[in-house]
Amino acid sequence: MSTPARPFAHNGIAFGCDYNPEQWAPEVWDEDIALMGEAGVDLVAINIFGWSHIEPRPGEFDFRGLDDVLGRLHAAGIRVNLGTGTASPPAWLTAAHPEVLPMAEDGTRRYPGGRQAFCPSSPIFREAARRLTDAVARRYGEHPAVSLWHVSNEIGCHNALCYCDESAVAFRRWLRARYGTLDRLNAAWGTAFWSQVYGDWEEILPPRATLSARNPGQALDFHRFSSDELRENYRAEAEVIRAVSDVPITTNFMVTAHIENMDYWSWAADMGIIANDHYLDHRLDDPRAELAFAADLSRGLGQGAPWILMEHSTGAVNWQPLNKPKGAGEIIRNSLTHVARGADGVCFFQWRASVQGSEKFHSAMLPHAGTDTAVWREVVELGGIVERIGEVAGSRVHTDIALVFSWESWWATQTDSRPSRSLGYLDQVHAAYGALHALGLTIDIVAPGADLSGYRLVVVPGLHLVREEEASVITDWIAAGGTALVTFYSGTVDEDDRVWTGGYTGPFREALGIRVEEFAPVPPGEDLHLSSGTTARLWSERSRVTTAQVEASFVDGPSAGHPAVTRNAWGDGAAWYLATLPSAADYAALMRRIADEADVHPAAAIRSGNGAVELVRRRGAEASYLFIVNHGSTPASVEARGTELITGMPVTGVAAVPGGAVRIVREEAVA
Ligand code: GLA
Repeated sequence: MSTPARPFAHNGIAFGCDYNPEQWAPEVWDEDIALMGEAGVDLVAINIFGWSHIEPRPGEFDFRGLDDVLGRLHAAGIRVNLGTGTASPPAWLTAAHPEVLPMAEDGTRRYPGGRQAFCPSSPIFREAARRLTDAVARRYGEHPAVSLWHVSNEIGCHNALCYCDESAVAFRRWLRARYGTLDRLNAAWGTAFWSQVYGDWEEILPPRATLSARNPGQALDFHRFSSDELRENYRAEAEVIRAVSDVPITTNFMVTAHIENMDYWSWAADMGIIANDHYLDHRLDDPRAELAFAADLSRGLGQGAPWILMEHSTGAVNWQPLNKPKGAGEIIRNSLTHVARGADGVCFFQWRASVQGSEKFHSAMLPHAGTDTAVWREVVELGGIVERIGEVAGSRVHTDIALVFSWESWWATQTDSRPSRSLGYLDQVHAAYGALHALGLTIDIVAPGADLSGYRLVVVPGLHLVREEEASVITDWIAAGGTALVTFYSGTVDEDDRVWTGGYTGPFREALGIRVEEFAPVPPGEDLHLSSGTTARLWSERSRVTTAQVEASFVDGPSAGHPAVTRNAWGDGAAWYLATLPSAADYAALMRRIADEADVHPAAAIRSGNGAVELVRRRGAEASYLFIVNHGSTPASVEARGTELITGMPVTGVAAVPGGAVRIVREEAVA
């Protein structure tokens, strides 16, 4: 797909929401728009789930409602982020063509009645989506209110993996393009094992439910295929839009804790601007660190360019086992943490809380209880802040630290048969990120193989699947003087899920100066003790150092006496290896040692409030901006100099940040 004809341009930081006026009578729309004005909303996503309204019968379009809403928003000076409306097919489509419905791995169909009830490879769905997109794009492609196109919605949220016959056809097509010959496919999937050799392309199926473990190569490729198919859905709509409109195009990613099916590294270049949806996940140990991680990854997907937080919540969601509201000030802290980490837009799902449908208990900017509420007051306060800090837009976060993240490693780590079911890829990423985050450090998230020059510290958590050339980028960078930490289960398999032999960590082995001979995972709940006095869990390994120094070894557990933490001088740099999962405090302590060696530091010095304060600096052409988010309930103070943008007060050496508050200091003189 071609890059958008024009970039997303917005005055300052965008502030907005999903708006679903079709759920309300037109009388409510006037009040909505008046209140949007009061809150400072200036970017509104509409027509996200509009299909059955604007195409009530096949090929019959009715744009009266949408015309009206667009006109009203435009008249109020609110810009529109226009959905193509294809996120959820209407009942008439799946009633006429039940074969459009997605199929689960056990061969059963999933019915309509929810959303995203379609197979991403369905030609019938694709044609219907193309026709709708074409109609919407032609009608509104030059509408002055439209400043961004919103293709579909959270593509692949529910239907990423479809196992139907249509998917099988598309999977075979994709495999032919990848491998060319069956010999190559058989080699890549290791089909010599268990008599799985394919002699005809037609024999190949999606990895449907089996009685025993499935072929992991097939499962891995099915993930790759599925991510590519969903991206094709995006591209197909984007192409139709591009034919009639030069407005930038995007879709809302789900860089968040529980969604793993899209390899967004391979989607990012197609986006006019990266947009992400993020919801705090209270099932995690540290939801706040995960928010920071997701924001940093969103920035990484755009190679550091500003991005948009397309959705988050003002309070509880409705899809976790227990849905927590936010604490006082948390809407503002969460929002500005995203801005600190590079967002140039802060939007919510959704504007007005629904009174019907399965999301009626999901929070909104305008709650069921109305405007005389703490949530509404905080939303209005946030709108005011966002307006005051507009000059931050366009500035960029700079950091000395990179963490290597890979969706392929996520998929490969979690195929059927592995050393421990308790080992999750994202958990390992979060643990490493959390240790850096606890030290107040700012981190870029980069793809395997990304250029590392310019960084001082590189962290490689559990990079299970790695290509030789991707590992070389890291080991060469270390040899040139970098400091890296690689953690266990990294470098175990190649891109075909084939084990790197000769000792685990494969292509990292030499640089790390250690050969891992056996994995020895540890049952949940069991603690390990290290010679350094540290406690750890989950994992241990039996290994021998070749050239590395042992910094700590296992005192007990299945690998007693074997190295747990090592450091190897490699060229002009240092390669650290961690063979277990330390407790959070011990991980942070180890990270501090490594960070000190790499000479990386937080964005500013914290005088008081340590542990509860998040610091990030964005740099612009004229000035830099130090974001100080105080998550604690007591005041914090941070060394800074300049002008505080929220209060307008000068800062002459120390910024005092009340408990729960955020301060943003424009610094004139930071290098
Ligand atoms: C996603 C979707 C929205 C809504 C929210 C609820 O972000 O895009 O339509 O369902 O989740 O959290």
